[in-house]
Amino acid sequence: MTDQIERDPITGTETTGHEWDGIKELNTPLPKWWLYTWLACIAWAAVWCFLYPSIPYGPSYWHGILGHTNRADVDREVHAVAVQRSAVMDKIGTMSFADIRADKGLAEAANTAGRITFANNCQPCHGAGGAGAIGYPALATGAWIWGGKLEDIQQTLIHGIRSGDPEARDSQMPRFGIDGVLKPEEIQHVADFVMTYYGTPRKDATPAELAAGAEIFANNCAACHGDKGQGGREFGAPRLASEVHLGGHTRQDVINQINNPHMGVMPYWNTRLDAATIKSLALYVHDLGGGE
Ligand code: HEC
Ligand code: HEC
Repeated sequence: MTDQIERDPITGTETTGHEWDGIKELNTPLPKWWLYTWLACIAWAAVWCFLYPSIPYGPSYWHGILGHTNRADVDREVHAVAVQRSAVMDKIGTMSFADIRADKGLAEAANTAGRITFANNCQPCHGAGGAGAIGYPALATGAWIWGGKLEDIQQTLIHGIRSGDPEARDSQMPRFGIDGVLKPEEIQHVADFVMTYYGTPRKDATPAELAAGAEIFANNCAACHGDKGQGGREFGAPRLASEVHLGGHTRQDVINQINNPHMGVMPYWNTRLDAATIKSLALYVHDLGGGE
């Protein structure tokens, strides 16, 4: 170490005076641009810490003077989506089915709203994708009991079926068995006849039994179910000449129905879902595969 300022003979730069094994340390100051960038970063960090949540102390922390929180950000975004959605749903509520279908964006929005509402409200009874279950109609098959046009479905949703709503779809199949309208033997015959519509007739049913069943059917059942078992929508009487059945496929299911009809209830939704959501649902159900 020496007190004198020494210069490196090759570069002409001052040395710091430190020397190890003949190697001297040059006194090269930081470049100005580097130094100022560094100072600016420190200043920036200080301002940032002042504005935004930063330094922890005890159980709390400095919240920053801008009042920024992630929660507030999320709230703002959720609010923006809600505003946008309500504008779309307002349109769906006022437009005709045909106009909604014609507008690709609206049709997609309606389908999404319908799908979510279906999963939350309808799936427990009607099954995923409207596949149906015993006592709960399959909505995707086109085997409509009351009707599969958009307006029919909308009407079913608004007022329900045997739901207690004053405008509900309503009908009663007589309790042929427990009210003694038909004798047990007659019920066996007409059930045998109905099984011919189902496509799985009882193998040992005699022609005489089937003829008796056909006559009982013509006199007691055809008024609602049609003279060829084709069903009657005014009465919500299912098509019997079909592979899709509301109440099961076996002869015993048919006998049970004749004895004591199931008379399923479909709730009304007009007090639970708004008009636009019901319309979206009607479009969604119509699109499941069976819409008319
Ligand atoms: C508590 C069970 C239940 C719930 C929940 C329910 N349904 Fe139903 N739904 C039924 C029953 C039972 C029927 C058949 C009634 C009958 O005609 O015998 C039916 C019938 C229908 C029909 C008429 C089908 C036809 O062939 O004409 C449509 C459409 C329908 N439901 C759609 C829906 C939609 C959409 C939802 C959700 C908003 C829903 N249902 C919720 C039980 C339910
Ligand atoms: C007043 C009209 C009416 C009359 C008359 C009537 N039904 Fe029905 N039937 C219905 C309705 C409505 C349903 C569906 C309602 C339910 O039980 O959920 C039904 C359902 C059925 C079913 C179940 C269909 C399926 O797809 O699962 C069978 C089977 C049936 N009826 C047989 C008969 C027979 C047999 C007679 C005559 C002895 C008869 N019905 C008379 C209205 C009628």
